[in-house]
Amino acid sequence: MTSLLAVEDLGATGIREVLRLADSFVEVSERAIPRVPALRGRTVATVFFEDSTRTRLSFETAAKRLSADTMTFSVSTSSVNKGESLRDTVETVAAMGIDAMIVRHRSAGVPWQVSRWIDASIINAGDGWHEHPTQALLDCYTVRQALGRDDPFPGLRVAIVGDIKHSRVARSNVAAFSALGARVTLVAPPTLMPPSLEGWPVEVSHDLDAVLADTDVVYLLRIQAERMNEALFPSLREYSARYGMTRERAGRLCSSALIMHPGPMNRGVEIAAEVSSLPNSLITRQVTNGVAVRMAVLFRLLGAPEASEALVAHA
Ligand code: NCD
Repeated sequence: MTSLLAVEDLGATGIREVLRLADSFVEVSERAIPRVPALRGRTVATVFFEDSTRTRLSFETAAKRLSADTMTFSVSTSSVNKGESLRDTVETVAAMGIDAMIVRHRSAGVPWQVSRWIDASIINAGDGWHEHPTQALLDCYTVRQALGRDDPFPGLRVAIVGDIKHSRVARSNVAAFSALGARVTLVAPPTLMPPSLEGWPVEVSHDLDAVLADTDVVYLLRIQAERMNEALFPSLREYSARYGMTRERAGRLCSSALIMHPGPMNRGVEIAAEVSSLPNSLITRQVTNGVAVRMAVLFRLLGAPEASEALVAHA
C-alpha cells in the first residue's frame, strides 16, 4: 500500500495491523523522549486547504516523533490566494522533495486527484463529506483500548448520532467499524441522513431515546453548520432536545457504554459540557491516541521493512 485514501484501502486485515502497530507507538509516546528514528531522512508535508486544529497537529507530531522532517502548507498564507491552481500548488510542494503528503480539502475526491499528479504517498486527512480514514482508525483504536481486548468489535453495538449527511467521519467510521464486525446504527433526523443509504451496512433510527439502552458506543457528531446551505432542523435547541447527549440521557446508557466525539465539539448542542468529562467519555483519549495511530499509518506507508527493528529503538 502506498497511500491511504479511504478505509477500504486497508480492509479488515489492514485496519487490525494498524491497530496493533499503534500499540507500539502508544508505548513510544509515553516515554520521557517520545521519539524513534524510524523515518529519519523522510519528509512529510501537510497540505490543508481547510481549517484544522487537531488533525494537522496530530499528523505533524506523529511525523516528528518518527524523526521525519515536516513541511507545512497553509492556504491562508499561500499563492492559492494569488489564484494558483490546486495542481500547481501540490506539484510545487512535491518538487521540494517529499515522501508523503497529507491532504485536506473541502471537495470530495481531491486526495485521489493529487495521487495521480505526484509520486509521494498520499494520506487523506478529510475530503469534503467523503472520508477521513485516520479519524476512523483512531476511533477504533480508542474503543479497543478502552475495552481492553484485542478484538472487541464482533457484535459491538455502535450508534453514530447527528449530522451524518455532512460527515466524512461518519462515512469512514461506518466503513471501519463494520469491517471489524461491529453493528452500526445511524441515529439522526431524516433531514440529516444522506439522501440514499443503499449499500451502507447500517441500521437506521430517528429516535435516540429508543437506542440508548442497547448501545455499547455512542458516537456523537458535530452539527456542521458551515456545510449546510439550508435549514435542516428547526433550531439548535430543538436539535439538542431530541438528539443531544444530555446528562439525563447519559444516565440511561448501560454502565459500560462509551461516549465519543471527533471534536471540535459544540458543547450544549450535540453534547452537554458535563457529559464530555464523564469517566466513560473517551474524547480526550481519542485526541491522544490520534498521534500514535497516525505514527502507525506513516510508518506503514513510509517505513522500510528492516526499520521495524528500529521501531521501538530510541532516537
Ligand atoms: C472532523 C473533520 O474535520 O472532519 N474533525 C476532526 O478531524 N477531528 C469532524 C468535524 O469537523 O466535525
